[in-house]
Amino acid sequence: MHIVHTIAELRERLSSFRRPAFVPTMGNLHEGHIALVHQAKPLGDVTVASVFVNRLQFLPHEDFDTYPRTLQDDAQKLQAAGCDLLFAPNEREMYPQPQTFKVVPDAALADILEGQFRPGFFTGVSTVVMKLLQCVQPHVAVFGKKDYQQLMVLRQMVRQFALPIEMVAAETQRAADGLALSSRNGYLTASERQEAVQLSLALARMAEQVRAGETTGDIEQAAIDVLRRRGWQPDYMTVRRRADLRAPAGAGEPLIALGAARLGRTRLIDNMEV
Ligand code: PAF
Repeated sequence: MHIVHTIAELRERLSSFRRPAFVPTMGNLHEGHIALVHQAKPLGDVTVASVFVNRLQFLPHEDFDTYPRTLQDDAQKLQAAGCDLLFAPNEREMYPQPQTFKVVPDAALADILEGQFRPGFFTGVSTVVMKLLQCVQPHVAVFGKKDYQQLMVLRQMVRQFALPIEMVAAETQRAADGLALSSRNGYLTASERQEAVQLSLALARMAEQVRAGETTGDIEQAAIDVLRRRGWQPDYMTVRRRADLRAPAGAGEPLIALGAARLGRTRLIDNMEV
């Protein structure tokens, strides 16, 4: 696997390929990311991953400064997974000037749920992903369903800008107890790690209750109450339409339960399709 740090080197390395398959990441890779690489590999003639911790998607009080930077480890894992090229730019390469041009997603999709609790998050994500896509010019890009709203925002971006990129969704990878794999799980203490599975259990219960025909409002409140009683601080536990993440309006719509909650100092998100 080659590692490149500049856009010029990246373009040079990719010049002889026609169908790059791309996995963008912020590093600190776990099995969830590696599954994205495995999924990407057969879809292109070269597999490219990026590792870049994107300042634009962090709020001032969030963990940008402490977000683990583990490039050597990441490179080893990517190489073992069969990745061909790693693009690991530094901040001066990606943002040589302050990034004043931004990609601002539709508020109806991006200012709810994660966007409500992390204002500007999806503008930061869309801007960096647009830039990474311009750098790599992939034929296919793979994103995890754990960040379900992110996947929807980015799909809409690619569609509305007519980018010739196939967006592939990868299933959430889970630990043996059911906890969704996430770089932020590394922040959990041993006892928090034991408790953390309760988020996915609550979402599974919500999905079950939807299938049993219970009222959405009751389901959501019950999930919030359970987590609060266990010491969590939920931001939202909600049932939405898969099509647009709005509240369900009628019978027969494909639905999804989504949740975000803080356990100690760690904020976790997860979702379950109903
Ligand atoms: O999901 C992530 O890791 C990030 O939001 C992404 C898509 C790499 C953009 O920084």
